[in-house]
Amino acid sequence: MDRFVIRGGNPLVGTIRVSGAKNSALPCMAAAILTEDEVTLENIPQVRDIETERKLLASMGAEVSPRQGRANDRITISCRTLSDPVARYEIVKTMRASSLVLGPLIARTGMARVAMPGGCAIGGRPIDLHIKGLEKMGATITQEHGYLEARADRLRGAHLVFDKITVTGTEDLLMAAVLAEGETLMENCAREPEVTDLAALLTAMGAKIEGAGTSTIRVQGATSLRGARYRINPDRIEAGTFLIAGAITGGDLVVSNCNAEHLGAVIAKLQEAGLLVDILGPDTVRVRSHGPLRAADISTEEYPGFPTDMQAQYMALATQAEGVSQVRENIFENRFMHVQELVRMGANIKVDGSTATVRGPARLSAAAVMCSDLRASASLVLAALVADGESILDRVYHMDRGYERIEEKLRGVGAQIRRMGDIFPQGKMRRATDNPPVPSPADI
Ligand code: UD1
Repeated sequence: MDRFVIRGGNPLVGTIRVSGAKNSALPCMAAAILTEDEVTLENIPQVRDIETERKLLASMGAEVSPRQGRANDRITISCRTLSDPVARYEIVKTMRASSLVLGPLIARTGMARVAMPGGCAIGGRPIDLHIKGLEKMGATITQEHGYLEARADRLRGAHLVFDKITVTGTEDLLMAAVLAEGETLMENCAREPEVTDLAALLTAMGAKIEGAGTSTIRVQGATSLRGARYRINPDRIEAGTFLIAGAITGGDLVVSNCNAEHLGAVIAKLQEAGLLVDILGPDTVRVRSHGPLRAADISTEEYPGFPTDMQAQYMALATQAEGVSQVRENIFENRFMHVQELVRMGANIKVDGSTATVRGPARLSAAAVMCSDLRASASLVLAALVADGESILDRVYHMDRGYERIEEKLRGVGAQIRRMGDIFPQGKMRRATDNPPVPSPADI
């Protein structure tokens, strides 16, 4: 298992480039199921979740091209034949977003078998709202042996009101609705940019969608969709993580190839914390420190609120701010797994239910720490960048699920970070005191 070795203390200076959004790429790849034609996607990040989804589609009979283009960021998917519309547990367990194939599979083939995702590192993550919506559209869904089996001759348009705002739930049902008979009206939808990205691809494929990006989406179902070529939006969470990397190290960092519009809540909070943030253009943001960091509270919310996927990274920053910051997590239970590790590095954080109270500034000292999920890993990388000494981050496979070549990108702007390969090459004995390898939980 790879580890990161990070020596803290260097301010990050220069320009760092953002990759395509993993959370847009995943539903867009699933959308290829909806047509017999080819779908070409550009700006696909090179991260492990994308490889998992590629495996998933291939296991169902789809053809997925090798990566193409100068940046190796283009793939073409052909779902002409879907001989085996099954999402197997072996794949679903490592990536919960695999449930995104449920809607498109039923809509296209009339049947789907998808393994139940089960629990995960950041709390119970049910898919009951996906199921409820599909049933309302006429699907019959049964559960057996850990799998959901869904059938429908042809889905019917319906009036769907989400009990709770769900990102992948909105995406899954949107993909079902575009091939359903008649109109589907979806209310209380997620307004995340990733939903808008998916809707733009579906529209390019011939779907009739109004209101994507608002809480009410109206879809006129079609009998078939065509292929399309589409460029995925930049990853707003990767961009936000880099902004915090610049901020926490007291650097002067330009984050390029991002979408500044999608970063509103994060930028506003960094400004409140005393940073200078300049929007240099629609896709370029610069962050600089400007005196000591000030404490500022956050409360995670659905878009356009402060993203839960930035909570852990923000907490690392809060450890360096003067005063008391309250960090409230409203979207997921149990999403404070990074706290213990930050405390081991010297942070002063107390958790009470869904609120963490961070007292700063704390002098962080390097330590051996353990990554527990994707964004918790990012938080530890940020803390290590300012810690005194050399930290070792274990289980960076979590990081690799969603950040493309993060160590190379950070090194390019002055960070001292290197990847260490498996320190237990085959045949070498593991010591009793070493941590045993664990399977990757399907977290985000
Ligand atoms: C997506 C993102 C993830 C992000 C999250 C919230 C992807 C691949 N992942 O996850 O990075 O952290 O949005 O912005 O896009 N819920 C139910 N029943 C359901 C579905 C969800 O109760 O059927 C609950 C969840 O437990 C959670 C809340 O709704 O408390 C929001 O979850 P949801 O928006 O669905 O998260 P994901 O789409 O899984």
